[in-house]
Parts: sequence; C-alpha cells; structure tokens
Amino acid sequence: MFDVLRKKVRPLTNTARTLIDMVYAPSLYWLAGCKANGIVGNGKAASGRPVSPNPLETYFDSHRTGPGLWKWRHYFEAYHTHFAKFRGARPKIVEIGVYSGGSLDMWREYFGADCELYGVDIDKSCMKHEKQNVKINIANQSDRAFWRKFREEVGEVDIVIDDGGHRPRQQRPTFEEILGAIKPGGIYLCEDIHGLRNPFAAYLRGIANTLNDHRFNAVQARIKSVTFYPYIAVVEILDTPRKALTSEKSGDQWIKG
Ligand SMILES: C[S@@+](CC[C@H](N)C(=O)[O-])C[C@H]1O[C@@H](n2cnc3c(N)ncnc32)[C@H](O)[C@@H]1O
Repeated sequence: MFDVLRKKVRPLTNTARTLIDMVYAPSLYWLAGCKANGIVGNGKAASGRPVSPNPLETYFDSHRTGPGLWKWRHYFEAYHTHFAKFRGARPKIVEIGVYSGGSLDMWREYFGADCELYGVDIDKSCMKHEKQNVKINIANQSDRAFWRKFREEVGEVDIVIDDGGHRPRQQRPTFEEILGAIKPGGIYLCEDIHGLRNPFAAYLRGIANTLNDHRFNAVQARIKSVTFYPYIAVVEILDTPRKALTSEKSGDQWIKG
C-alpha cells in the first residue's frame, strides 16, 4: 500500500522540486543584482590589466595525446587560486580519483617533478600509474579504516583533491577522516558537488556557517575559509591556529558618539 503510494507520489514531488529549483536559482541571481547591473566581459581584470594565462589550462589545452584528463574548464581558475603557493615547494598531495592518470601527470607538471603524489582509487587497474614520487592506493574512499591507516603511513599532507566517486556518502567520510591530516596552510578541494539540494554541499555550508559563531569554536580555531565555486568547494586551513577572534582598534581620532 505504502509502496504503491510512494511510487505514485515521488515523481510528483520530484517534478515539484525541479520546478521550484528552476525559479529559486534565477531569483537569487536577480536579487544579487546581477540582472540589474548586467554582466560585463571585456577580457580584462577590474584593474584594467589583461588576465594572465592559467598554467593548468595551458597544460590541458596542449595535452593532445597520452593519459586522459577530463575537467570542467572553470576548475582551472579555482585550482590556480588555491594551489599556486605550493608550486616548486615539494608539496605532498592526495588525489582521490585516478582514472586514466592524466590529472596526476598534470599535477606533477604544475607542482614540480619532486612533489609527492598519493592517488587513491577503487579501481585496481589504476596501479599502473604508480611511478617515482607517485604512490597509488587501491581503496574505497568511504572506508574510514583505510584513511586512518593511510594517515599513519603517510602523515600530514599539503593538499587533498577529492575527484573520486562524487557521492555525498563518499565525500563526507573522506573529508572527516583526512581534514585532521592537512598541514597548516593546506587545502582541501572537492570536485563535482552538483545540485541545489546536494547533502555534502549542505554539510560544508554548515561548517562555513560556524565561522560566524559568536562563541569561539574549533572551526574558527583551525579553518581560514570555506569557498564555493560552481561544483567545487575549497576549505583552507589557517597557517597558524587561532586561540581567539579579537576586535581591536587603532588610531586616536574618533567621532563622538
Ligand atoms: C572522475 S574520475 C577521476 C578523474 C581524474 N582525477 C582526472 O581528472 O582525470 C573518478 C575516479 O574515481 C574512482 N572512484 C569511484 N568511486 C570511488 C570510491 N568509492 N573510492 C575511490 N575511488 C572511486 C573511479 O574508479 C574513477 O577512476
């Protein structure tokens, strides 16, 4: 009885949700003033200077043969924004989702041949991408025991890129188990978070929200920022953990209240 009802009602609720989402996102866009102001694109930054080429995008565009690499084009800007400071600094990087190995090669080229790469994939055939400074682990990213063992063996890392199964039930345990292993100043970046009702996006928004807490909390103590781009979320770890958030004054001229 309930099953029959559920089968009949679910398609209707799904259609209703889709219709709501179709109105909801564009109205936010309108409220944010984008519609009123229009979108201006002249190929120059706000400073008037031309935008310099992104080395990852240049690599991608010139990569015509060899291991396959599949990316949303707008990801390159987010990568370069958060990863540039690690170039040439021999970072330790974890990439979940090895697939055809193309992204591991791209990271090596970008960060330098002496960066340490750790690929994690559920597919055994990815072992073939293991080489000097590239270690492949075959595991299911939702397996918390795997991450605990991984942390014992590998220690702290600079960057974690989650491009694995893309399901919230895989992303969340990965995030929870690996966050504590990211060094001060390090970066966690998760790709392919799709949909207006994505539970992992909601979970990360909850963490971002705690940055506004009036009572000083553990998130404010260690996390610098949570940034959302289309389909990507980035969590930056502070260079130095905070002990408090303080509001301070300098200068000696004040309007009389
Ligand atoms: C989108 S591909 C990775 C693409 C690659 N990073 C690139 O940019 O070319 C996703 C990979 O995640 C792996 N994968 C899927 N589910 C997984 C899981 N639960 N744990 C670990 N890896 C998983 C797949 O086997 C596949 O190789």
